Amino acid sequence: MNILILGSGGREHAFAWKISQSPLCDQLFVAPGNAGTAAVATNLPFSYNDFASLRNAVLEHKVELVIVGPEEPLVNGVVDFFEADSELQHIKLIGPNQAGAQLEGSKDFSKNFMEKHGIPTAASRTFTADQYEEGLAYIAQHSLPVVLKADGLAAGKGVIIAEKQEDANQALKEMLLDGKFGGAGNKVVIEQFLKGIELSVFVLTDGENYKILPEAKDYKRIGENDTGLNTGGMGAVSPVLFADANFLKKVEEKVVKPTLSGLKADGIKYVGFIFIGLMNVKGEPFVIEYNVRMGDPETEVVLPRIQSDFAMLMAATAKGILNEYELVISPQVAVTTVVVAGGYPGDYEKGKVITGSQKIEDVYLYHAGTTFNANTEVVTNGGRVMALTGVANSLENAVRKSQHAAQTVQFEGKYFRRDIGMDLIRYND
Ligand code: AMP
Ligand code: GLY
Repeated sequence: MNILILGSGGREHAFAWKISQSPLCDQLFVAPGNAGTAAVATNLPFSYNDFASLRNAVLEHKVELVIVGPEEPLVNGVVDFFEADSELQHIKLIGPNQAGAQLEGSKDFSKNFMEKHGIPTAASRTFTADQYEEGLAYIAQHSLPVVLKADGLAAGKGVIIAEKQEDANQALKEMLLDGKFGGAGNKVVIEQFLKGIELSVFVLTDGENYKILPEAKDYKRIGENDTGLNTGGMGAVSPVLFADANFLKKVEEKVVKPTLSGLKADGIKYVGFIFIGLMNVKGEPFVIEYNVRMGDPETEVVLPRIQSDFAMLMAATAKGILNEYELVISPQVAVTTVVVAGGYPGDYEKGKVITGSQKIEDVYLYHAGTTFNANTEVVTNGGRVMALTGVANSLENAVRKSQHAAQTVQFEGKYFRRDIGMDLIRYND
C-alpha cells in the first residue's frame, strides 16, 4: 500500500519512521516533510493546505491511504474534498471530516457538544461581539482566575488565563472588538478555571470501534518549572504516572465512550485520532479541549511505545475493522526533549547548521523544523527543531537518555528545557 503523510513536524517524522518499518507499506510519501522524513520516505514539496497539489500527488503516486498530521487541513475540509471527488473517493484518510473537525476548530462547538452529551468540562458561556457588555458582566461576577478562549484556531495562542478582572476585560476586548485573533476571536468562550494536573489521552476510532493509545503529558511553557510563554510543546512523557488504571477507566467511561456515542448521535462519522486534553481534578477527569489529530511532541513518546504494526493500525482504522487489531503497548517509559531555536516562541533565525546528530545513540531522533541547505547539510528551519526521545525501564533513565541527546545535538542558539519529566520523578518519590 502506498501511504502519504501530511505535515512537516516531529509528529510526522515519528509517523513516517514507524510506518516505514511495516511490510504493509510499499511507498511512503510525506508532504512537505522535513530533513528527517527524507531519510525514511519521499518528501513532496507542497503545503498540506494545498489540496490541488495533494490531489495530483495521490493520483500520480497511487496513494491509497492519507494520514493527516495537523488540524488545519481537517478544519479546512480535506476529507470532504476527497469524498466529493469521484477520482479520489476510493482513497482513505485518517482524520475526521469538517463536521468532526469542529471539535477542535470551534471551542464553542466543542463546549456545546460536551454539555449536550454530559461530558465533564469546565462550566462556560460563549459571547459574540454584540454581547460584549454581557461578557463584561459575566466576568465581573465570575470567580478568579477566569479562562477566556478564542473560538477558532489561533495557533495555540487563543487561551488567556486571567488572574485579575481587568486582565480578563482587556482580553475580552482584544478578542471580540479589536480582532486580535482575526475571525477566530469572533466568539469567545469564558470558562471556569480548573485546578489539577493535566494529561492527554489519545483515542483512535474507525467510526464504530476504538482503541485508546498510551497517554502522555506535555510541557507547554518555554521556561523550566513551567514558566514563560506557551509553545507548541517543549517535551513530553508517556506513561503518566499519576494516571493510574482507576483514573484511566474513569476517562474511558465518562469521556471516551460518551464522546464517541455523542458523535454518532449527532450524525458525525468520525474516523481518526481524538486527542483529549484533560485535567485531573482530585481524581476526576474534566475535558479541557479536544484536538482532532495526534499531539506534537506527544506522538514522539506515544509511538515508540506502540509495539504492534502502526501501518496496519492505520489500515484497520481506514477499513473500519479496528476491533480486529491487537494493539500492543510497551510498559517502558518514553521521554522526549525538544530542542528549539533561540528566541522561540518569539522571533528566531533559520538556516543554522545542525551537528552532533550522528553521535546520538540509543535515542529516537525526530526532526521537526529541519531542512537541507544548498550544500545538503541539515539546517534549522523552524522554532522547534528536533525531538529526542529516550526509552527506558525507568523514568529517570529515559530522562537521562533524552537529556544527553539534547546536549549532544548542536546548532547556534540551541535551547531546551532541562526539567522535562522531573516533576513526575518528584511526584513518584
Ligand atoms: P488549550 O488551547 O485549550 O489547550 O488551552 C491551553 C492551556 O490552557 C491548556 O493546556 C491548559 O493548561 C490551560 N487551560 C485551558 N482551559 C483551562 C481551564 N478551564 N482551567 C485551567 N487551565 C486551562
Ligand atoms: N502538544 C500540544 C499539541 O499538539 O496540541
